Amino acid sequence: MQRKILITSALPYVSGSIHLGTLLEHIQTDTWVRFQRLIGNHCIYVCGDDAHGTATMLLAEREGIEPEILIESFRQEHVRDFEAFHIEHDNYHTTHSDENRDLSNLIFRKLLENGLIFTQGIEQLYDIERDLFLADRFVTGSCPRCNATDQYGDNCDSCGATYDATELLDPMSTLSDSTPELRESEHYFFDLPKFSRMLDEWTSSGSVQQEVRNKLKEWLEAGLKPWDISRDAPYFGFLIPGTETKYFYVWMDAPIGYMASLQNLANTREDINLEDYWKSDSTAEVHHFIGKDIVNFHALFWPAVLEGAGYRKPTKIHTHGFVTVDGTKMSKSKGTFISASSYVQYLDPQYLRYYYATKLSGTVDDIDINFDDFVARVNSDLIGKVVNIASRCAGFITKHFDSRLSAYLHDEELQNEYTDKKDLIANLYEAGDTSKAVREIMGLADLANQYIAKHEPWKLIKEEGNKEAAHAICSQGINLFRLLILYLKPILPKLAEEAEAFMKINPLYWADLSEPLIDHEISEYKPLLTRMEMDSVKKLVNELKSANVSSNEDNPIALSEISIDDFAKIELKVGKIKNAEAIDGAEKLIRLSLDVGDHERQILAGIKSAYDPKNLVGRLCVVVTNLAPRKMRFGISEGMVLAAGEGEDEIFLLSPDTGAKPGMIVR
Ligand code: MSP
Ligand code: ZN
Repeated sequence: MQRKILITSALPYVSGSIHLGTLLEHIQTDTWVRFQRLIGNHCIYVCGDDAHGTATMLLAEREGIEPEILIESFRQEHVRDFEAFHIEHDNYHTTHSDENRDLSNLIFRKLLENGLIFTQGIEQLYDIERDLFLADRFVTGSCPRCNATDQYGDNCDSCGATYDATELLDPMSTLSDSTPELRESEHYFFDLPKFSRMLDEWTSSGSVQQEVRNKLKEWLEAGLKPWDISRDAPYFGFLIPGTETKYFYVWMDAPIGYMASLQNLANTREDINLEDYWKSDSTAEVHHFIGKDIVNFHALFWPAVLEGAGYRKPTKIHTHGFVTVDGTKMSKSKGTFISASSYVQYLDPQYLRYYYATKLSGTVDDIDINFDDFVARVNSDLIGKVVNIASRCAGFITKHFDSRLSAYLHDEELQNEYTDKKDLIANLYEAGDTSKAVREIMGLADLANQYIAKHEPWKLIKEEGNKEAAHAICSQGINLFRLLILYLKPILPKLAEEAEAFMKINPLYWADLSEPLIDHEISEYKPLLTRMEMDSVKKLVNELKSANVSSNEDNPIALSEISIDDFAKIELKVGKIKNAEAIDGAEKLIRLSLDVGDHERQILAGIKSAYDPKNLVGRLCVVVTNLAPRKMRFGISEGMVLAAGEGEDEIFLLSPDTGAKPGMIVR
């Protein structure tokens, strides 16, 4: 029976780039999805960016752009990166969407109706200078247990203790370097403890791997606490219905983003319906692929929220470990924090897809990349074993036999040895043990190479009476190659596509295994894959290392390309500063009054660290005049003054040459 499966990868945070770690997860998921499709199951693979939270808000503020613009540019970058690695999401959406707002509100209302939400005042650290409550990661201080200095607000690197940020000794806000104060605020809580029994049963029913179950059992036995699902303004997220200053905590609406991405797809596809997958008695399957750091959100909070709101729970959570390089955490200074976009400049994405497949075994063990091993594996397996078969056999067939394969199989037994492995290999794919699957497949590839070496068709072809045998042997070689390609297809879809074109066959499916290619025409062979060069790896790592030395750790944001029409939407004009004043209470802002040819405009510009207001009066500058007015804490800002610069201490206002008049168009 055909299974109907919804599959997800964790939604990457919007504000970072896709890197070797996120790629592991998406390659693992994509391989599983492609395998399911290959054996005939119906799959939908959705994902998207996780857009909300304080980090997005702060980054947008620092870049001086609206969060919506920041989000969309990152989303496009992420889509492009995943495509480069042949990861085929059916939809890549964002949690900052109408679908997600509607679903989050709906789920919240259902939880409320079911008596699962309550409010309670809690004390939190508040940054008086920045006017916001501080998330744990924005507070440092000394560990309340061991006194180690410079620890974050949630746990101590030195002694491993976990605690509340309010317990830190000498707390400091990392946002303003000021001492925060304790303030009380009302928060919304989800009554998680009510679900302890359900979770205990659910997590022991095969919905998570055994080792994950063991970890969860520890947490369950220690006792669950109500889950704080709200955050105070200012925050970037969805307002909680009925409030003006309370937002859903990013982890509340993030998993709902899986549903929202499906809903967004369903909006354009008649054959897809959200309820089919999520209603409580759905017979479809839901599989989430995640990293081990976010197990609690997916295997405790999320199923409890789903159950509480009357939806079905996931079929399975597939948890993987963390990518390390040479046994240690990926590091920017060592050049081993490799982003997807840097990788593709030097190396074929297929190498990584294959290497990860050789490493993944369905456990939560970390996945170590060792570049010597990486290069050796790719070259010896893919080039030396698999592609080699086609390149050894195809030439003879094209040259001597009019590009046609022989009319019979030379070694049926060997062919059967290949096809007999199909259930074993399928089961390994299903279980996520691609490491063993690949080992089986390479074992088969060895047999093919031994077979060819034994029969030496290159000798037979020169002997008049043995030409036909050479034909049959090379044809057999192509048939074995075809089966290897089919077995590897979930991991290497691009290679498979090119090999299919070479063999002049329709896209391969599992069901095609038993039908060999007989008396069939093939194309001329062209190299399907090139060797992986250690030199390219070194260039990549060195470039990253030196880039890291010359710039700071912060990622500059790379906006995606725009068309000239997009650019034409921006109105730039010469402005003359009529008045400039510092704003009480705002560290960075200057209030400017500008003549840009129409009415006098007020613009709040973050340039105080570099300019004294009184020196600005009378100066010409360049202004974006059609930017939607922005309500800021100190008033409305009607446009933006252009300046160059990297950080707060280096700001250079742009000015036209003398003679320009206020109101002139800048192009
Ligand atoms: N936004 C959350 C997930 C929300 S899902 C409703 C998040 N984002 S993340 O960008 O930090 O991570 C996305 C996924 O990549 C997570 O599953 C995470 O475990 C995984 N990885 C991030 N770094 C990783 C490695 N170094 N190695 C392997 N996977 C890692 O968490
Ligand atoms: Zn400590």
